[in-house]
Amino acid sequence: ADNLRIALAGVGTVGAGVVRLLEENGSLIAKRAGRTIEVVAVSARDRAKDRGVDLSAYDWEDDMTAFAARGDVDVVVELVGGSDGPALALARKALENGKSLVTANKAMVAHHGLELAQLAEQSGAALRYEAAVAGGIPAIKGLGEGAAANRIERIYGILNGTCNYILSEMESTGRDFADVLAEAQALGYAEADPTFDIEGVDAAHKLSILAALGFGTRLDFASVDTSGISRIRAADIAQADALGYVIRLIGLADVSGSEESLQLFQRVAPYLVAKDHPLAGVSGPTNAVVCEGNFSGRLLFEGAGAGDGPTASAVVADLIDIARGSTPPPFSIPVSALEETAPADPGH
Ligand code: NDP
Ligand code: HSE
Repeated sequence: ADNLRIALAGVGTVGAGVVRLLEENGSLIAKRAGRTIEVVAVSARDRAKDRGVDLSAYDWEDDMTAFAARGDVDVVVELVGGSDGPALALARKALENGKSLVTANKAMVAHHGLELAQLAEQSGAALRYEAAVAGGIPAIKGLGEGAAANRIERIYGILNGTCNYILSEMESTGRDFADVLAEAQALGYAEADPTFDIEGVDAAHKLSILAALGFGTRLDFASVDTSGISRIRAADIAQADALGYVIRLIGLADVSGSEESLQLFQRVAPYLVAKDHPLAGVSGPTNAVVCEGNFSGRLLFEGAGAGDGPTASAVVADLIDIARGSTPPPFSIPVSALEETAPADPGH
C-alpha cells in the first residue's frame, strides 16, 4: 500500500518526540499499520533551532498553512498549540481540503471541536485527538470506543500532569511550589503558558472533551467550574496529611436527568483524597481517568499524562488508525445527530 504521508506542524517537545518515535519504531509500525508512515514536511517558528532530531530529510515550510494545499500530504499533524491563531487556521484549512488532522491541542478541541468535527464529516477526512487528553493514556479510545456500549454517568480523574507533579513533589519532598513548577516546565510537561496548568484550565479543556465523548453531549467548556492549585501552600499539604488525606487536582463530570433534558455538571478543583483511595497513589506527571459504565462497571486508566514520549505514543497511535482506515466519528456520534441534541443543561 502507499505510504501515509504526514506533515508535522510544530517540532517542540511533542513534535520532536513524534520524529524520534517514527524513526525508532518505524518498521514495527509499518507492519501494524499495513503501510509506512512517512514524514514529508515539517514546520516551526525557528528553522535554525537545535531540536535534538535530524530534520534534514524533510521539506521545511516557513508557513505551516502551506501543508493544507500540498498534494503530497495525506495527514496534517498539529503540534503547535493555542485554541485559536495559527493552529486553528491550519486545522480548518486542512480539513476543508480533505486532509486528515491529528492534534494534541486540547485547547483547540475544547473550543472548536464541534466545528472541526463538522468540517471533517463534510470532507470525509479524519479528525483524531488522542494525545489531547491524558498524554499517553488511550483515554479517548477507551471512552469513545472501548466503553462505547455503555451509558456513562460519571467521569473523573487527574487530568493535568504538571499539577500532579507539583502536588506530589511538594508532598513527598517539601519542595517549594515555584521551584517544582520551573522543573515541570524544563521537563516539557507544562503548557506554553503554565497558568493554564496551575489555574485548572488545561484540566477543564480535557474534562469537557471527555464529558462530550462519554455522555454523548455537546462540548461545553464554558460551563466547567474551574479552580486550580496556585493558592495551595506547603501548610495545606501538611494539614491534609495530618487529617489522612493528600491533595489532588481532580476533574469531575456527571450527568443526571432524562435523555431529553440531561443536566451536566463539570468541575475542576483541588480535592482532598483519602490516602487509601487509588487516586492518592497517583504521583508525578501521571494522570488517571475513571469512568463508570452501566455494563462495564468502573474503568480506571492510568499512565503518563505529559511528556514527549507518552504524548508522541498517542499521536502516532492516531496515525496508525488513519493508516488502517479505522476512523470512527470524532465525538462518537455524527455531528449532525449532536446538533439535533439540545446542549445539556449545566445544572447543579
Ligand atoms: P512546544 O512549545 O514544545 O512546541 C510547540 C512547537 O510549535 C514549536 O516547535 C514551535 O516552534 C511551534 N510554534 C509555536 N508557535 C508557532 C507559530 N505561531 N507558528 C509556527 N510554529 C509555531 O509545545 P509542546 O510540544 O509541549 O505542545 C504542543 C501541543 O501538544 C500543545 O497543543 C500542547 O497543549 C499539546 N500537548 C503537550 C503535551 C506535553 O507534555 N508537552 C502533552 C499533551 C499535549 P519553535 O520550536 O521554533 O519555537
Ligand atoms: N500541560 C499538560 C499537563 C500537558 O501538564 O498535563 C499534557 O496535556
